[in-house]
Amino acid sequence: MKFDFEYYNPTKIYFGKTAIDNLADELENYGKNILLVYGKGAIKSIGLYDKVTEILKQSGKSVVELAGIKSNPTYRQVLRGADLVRKNNIDLILAVGGGSVIDCSKAISVSAYCEGDPWEKYWENFEPLSNKTVPVASILTMTGTASEMNAGSVITNEEKMIKGGRVFTPNVNPKFSILNPEYTYSVPKYQMVSGVFDIMSHLMEQYFSGDDDNTTDYVIEGVMECLINSVRKALVNPQDYEARSNIMWCATLGLNSVTGLSKEQDWEVHNIEHQVGAYTDCAHGVGLAIVSIPYYKHIYKNGLDKFVRFAKKVWSVDVESMTKEEAALKVIEKLSDFIKELGIPKSLREVGATEEMLTKIANSTVPGGTYKHVDNDEILEILKECY
Ligand code: NZQ
Ligand code: ZN
Repeated sequence: MKFDFEYYNPTKIYFGKTAIDNLADELENYGKNILLVYGKGAIKSIGLYDKVTEILKQSGKSVVELAGIKSNPTYRQVLRGADLVRKNNIDLILAVGGGSVIDCSKAISVSAYCEGDPWEKYWENFEPLSNKTVPVASILTMTGTASEMNAGSVITNEEKMIKGGRVFTPNVNPKFSILNPEYTYSVPKYQMVSGVFDIMSHLMEQYFSGDDDNTTDYVIEGVMECLINSVRKALVNPQDYEARSNIMWCATLGLNSVTGLSKEQDWEVHNIEHQVGAYTDCAHGVGLAIVSIPYYKHIYKNGLDKFVRFAKKVWSVDVESMTKEEAALKVIEKLSDFIKELGIPKSLREVGATEEMLTKIANSTVPGGTYKHVDNDEILEILKECY
């Protein structure tokens, strides 16, 4: 095993019920012009918009707003934001919302001063970041993506029908992120479980690679156990502060690089889901849950020992009384039961996919995988299985 890595994460986290009290001090580090980016209205209904705008006003900031960022943010919205940054000489982009709002803010940051077409340059051709960026900070209201502590930016180009992800470390890691679990109390159950499965999927995509006795695998197993226990509590009582806090921090740990250190990482479930999202606009975690079961049934034989370990350590399956194959199939069944327990739809049909879309989704998905490399024909088989 190759156990070497470089780790640097420049995001400062303020976590807890009074985390917002740090906003005014943080704002002192930036110029006067703020672009406030948010979604379709959740931040207004929970009173956060009033609170944040009051702090901005008290801090003497001049604020331009970009509202209405949709779930699965679009390239068109990115270009609108980039235009606002240039015209208003923005000093800080403050994202208040979930992963979509934060991802869109990061994309605006790298696009505003890009010469040429940012999509082609950064999301299509993966060119190194070569232009000035604008600092981004976040106030998180929905957990799942870890966008609050990473440099990822996933954007949907509606014209090209591609949902593409790009990581811009360390330039657009939020400079600081404010995480108050109470803000997530109002997240509708459907979105909450979508976020929870997104976390689970991030952890699995990193875990299912290699067969090493790696510190990271132990960390992932612990985070998974905490996540499963906590979501069960939060489903019973959505205002369980401890459970909500655990979920929020599991999410951040799930994709802030800690759970990926010295792991090869898979990410094929995400590759497939992103194209499902481009065609159906489904909630990201819901799409992941639908794709996961047929995907893992497709690849488990190539990573049998890891599936047995997953069964034993995370799901307490009595693997000693089974063959490896039985244990692996048992844990995939456990995962499927968990998805059912969360109340997540099981088929692509339920999230708006049509039979005609399947070939287009399969052919536009980037093939990959670690235990097993899946090609576009296999991706189509997987999609048909969960249609
Ligand atoms: O639009 P608003 O009104 O804000 O409503 C949102 C939205 O409808 C709502 N919501 C958020 N906070 C709320 C709330 N509703 C009530 N109370 C609150 N406190 O929740 C809905 C979903 O929000 P969204 O931001 O879309 O969800 P999520 O955080 O799951 O983000 C999904 C996006 O992130 C990308 C996904 O592909 C998707 O585009 N990802 C980003 C990653 C990254 N940056 O590293 C990695 C992930 O794998 C993922 O691909
Ligand atoms: Zn994800």
